[in-house]
Amino acid sequence: MMTAAQIRQSFLDFFASKDHEIVPSSPVVLPTDPTLLFANAGMNQFKEIFLGARKSSWKRVANTQKCIRVSGKHNDLEEVGRDTYHHTFFEMLGNWSFGDYYKREAITWAWELLTVVWKLPKNRLWATVFTTDDEAADIWRTCTDIDPSHILRFGEKDNFWEMGETGPCGPCSEIHFDLTPDGCTPDMINAGSPLVIEIWNNVFMQYNRKSDGSLDELPAKCVDTGMGFERVVAVIQGKTSNYDTDVFMPLIEAVAALSGKAYTEGENAVAMRVIADHLRALSFAIADGVMPGNEGRGYVLRRLLRRAARYGRNLGLTKPFLCELFPVLEKQMGGFFPELTARRNEIVRALRAEEESFAATLDRGIAHFNEVIEKLGSAGNKLFPGSEAFKLYDTYGFPLDLTVLMAQEKGFQIDAPAFERFMAEQRARARAARKDNAAADNDLIAHFVEQGLQTTFTGYTSLTTGTSLVALLADGQIVDTLATGQTADLLLAQTPFYAEAGGQVGDTGVITTCQGARFEVTDTQKPAQGIILHRGKLVAGTLAKGAAVVATVDEERRAAIRRNHTATHLLNAALRKVLANDSLKQAGSYVDAERLRFDFTSFEALTPAQLAAIERQVTEFVIANRAVKTYEIPLKDVPGSGIIAVFDEKYGDIVRVVETEGISRELCGGTHVERSGDIGPFRILAETSIAAGIRRIEAQAGLPACDHTAHEHGILSDLAHRLSVAPADLPPRLEALQQHAHQLEKELKALAQKNALEKGAALAAKFAPIGGIPVLIESVGELEAEPLRALVESLRKQTPESVILLAATAEDKVTFILNAGPAAQAKGVHAGKLVGAIAKLTGGGGGGKPDKAQAGGKDAAKLPAALAHARELIAQALG
Ligand code: ALA
Repeated sequence: MMTAAQIRQSFLDFFASKDHEIVPSSPVVLPTDPTLLFANAGMNQFKEIFLGARKSSWKRVANTQKCIRVSGKHNDLEEVGRDTYHHTFFEMLGNWSFGDYYKREAITWAWELLTVVWKLPKNRLWATVFTTDDEAADIWRTCTDIDPSHILRFGEKDNFWEMGETGPCGPCSEIHFDLTPDGCTPDMINAGSPLVIEIWNNVFMQYNRKSDGSLDELPAKCVDTGMGFERVVAVIQGKTSNYDTDVFMPLIEAVAALSGKAYTEGENAVAMRVIADHLRALSFAIADGVMPGNEGRGYVLRRLLRRAARYGRNLGLTKPFLCELFPVLEKQMGGFFPELTARRNEIVRALRAEEESFAATLDRGIAHFNEVIEKLGSAGNKLFPGSEAFKLYDTYGFPLDLTVLMAQEKGFQIDAPAFERFMAEQRARARAARKDNAAADNDLIAHFVEQGLQTTFTGYTSLTTGTSLVALLADGQIVDTLATGQTADLLLAQTPFYAEAGGQVGDTGVITTCQGARFEVTDTQKPAQGIILHRGKLVAGTLAKGAAVVATVDEERRAAIRRNHTATHLLNAALRKVLANDSLKQAGSYVDAERLRFDFTSFEALTPAQLAAIERQVTEFVIANRAVKTYEIPLKDVPGSGIIAVFDEKYGDIVRVVETEGISRELCGGTHVERSGDIGPFRILAETSIAAGIRRIEAQAGLPACDHTAHEHGILSDLAHRLSVAPADLPPRLEALQQHAHQLEKELKALAQKNALEKGAALAAKFAPIGGIPVLIESVGELEAEPLRALVESLRKQTPESVILLAATAEDKVTFILNAGPAAQAKGVHAGKLVGAIAKLTGGGGGGKPDKAQAGGKDAAKLPAALAHARELIAQALG
């Protein structure tokens, strides 16, 4: 029997033999596509090629793509674990044609691989085509030996594939496999049966769906296929469940061993499948730099982890267990996906930390659940509100099935429709937040591609370019002319302006004409490869489409950006060297003219000594004055899934490398200095945590670094001057001052205590009995509330069976403290009530317990009258 690894390899070998280039999987996060939280199909990384915005020198490629489907259009989360063939994380085997072969080859090769190479029984295979796709149906009938009665037609829902709300799409032809014992009937295809499953989708990419819902023809017809790896493994290995294959069994066996439960059917089996599935999604996402957290992708991971942890509890797994299971996954998949091994430590630590923190949240969630049940119980209502189920889901990470179970145990039903309404609202909010920009960009790209409008970037070698104005956009509309004062986005035939990408800000500068027009560019953006938009305002003259213009980048600003950008690469290299960690993962970066920041995954803060060593190391790289070279290499020479680093900066399938000789080599499309010495001074400003497991270093290079040093030096000189010492003597001077201040504080405290004792002794002599109980009513003059309380307390200790009322003033406030011993209380003296009544006379209020109470007033002039009244009240009670 072929193993999963052999099956994966045979797919790649088959398409290599059909002249396909085997390319790496992109990471599960595609930084340039805001419509996607995670890669959800093999074609994601080729979207711009389908749209015609990016050229590929390969016409045919194939790979296995790491996918995560947990939200958005393609969302399988609720099924996962309950059935046998949906997953949050899965591999999608795919082959693509970029304007090369089309339906005939796609269909016949799919058939050849399935029936000749893998020898799947033909009578178990079914093909579907789009209702009107006679061409595909004919190819199935005439070019393959499939049973003609196994060719079925379906409508848009099943046989028209779309990536998302907008973007490339087209009719598709799916291949289904029949696992039923006696053979299925046509009505069982696409009917949701776990025994009749889709294994391969061949999409004939032909259109671009625009934001208004209309379809545009793509510039070239393409093929995009996706085969569920785990499903095809099950089919080839003769299993009815993906989980019974060698992709999942080692994980499930490990869960079974850890929990001491058997993998049979029922709830325990569901729990084991959920855990095996979610462990894969979590590990691969963390390997690609996502960390569990409160927002976006991180939040998806958090919810997955909690779902797994909850199911773990059902198996009796109460201690962190996902981190214990990871080595099994690494052993199984680390060979093909080396990122699992490279990032082992981060993955295990992140899993453990998140599992531990969930244990705490879970207890709080259960407490909240019990409160809700208690409230409902007294109302005699047996419906658990949807809003509360949603709160448990949203705030405490309880999957709905868990809440349902817990509620059932207490005899309650969940108001599921209400829960669904809350969920739908939340999804709509998230979608609205993501959609607008992406849809507008998508239309724009389609328009420019249709018109054949592309910008050539000249800015690596020049900062001024004479060119022509090919398109103008004002308020998102294409216009022909622009008047003075209007803001707009300009598209030029050529431009030296660098568009924001790879963490480097867009250039600023001016676009002018000989006729006196002057357009000030405040930002440069690139919605797609080759489409560079200059954002800004026409401050003089007019501009029309086709005008001859000169585009000039702000040179000084660009120079500052270049220094910061190369410094970022040196910082990356220095960090690895000082921390002796080559697998350190960059989690993001940002470079502008003023500063740079570099984010990386780590659980520990850097020590001041490490930071100093890193700063020094960067400076050593700078003064080594090494040449900074850029060159291009084929994408296929980039190891592993490293193409994440440059996804938005690659040109065709060539990637650009920036190398500081002997120091660093990075894939990067940014602009850089010529020699490392050009960077000048380098200073680290701060090192902070920006999310669990992610640290950020902020730094500056060049003149801003110099200014920063000068500023700090200024502060130092000022301090030294004020303290009349040399800067070097500041530390001992400061220490002496601190000691002195400490000493004074101590003396002050001792003095205050002494005063209080003296006052206390004087006051103790003034007790006078009323009705046999010693009573003390006095104003002690200026004193804060705290020492006043201490004073009353010390008097009470000496004479517990008493009534003590002391008043003091501090600034304009009056404080009363009243203490009544047990005998006085027995006679009806209530400290809280009494002190409140007295304070009222001075325009204030307060209260407290029967034995001790405090109140405040405002009018010190009324104090004597208030105390006299107090004496009367107390005398009444005791007398
Ligand atoms: N892109 C197609 C899919 O995901 C192949 O089904």
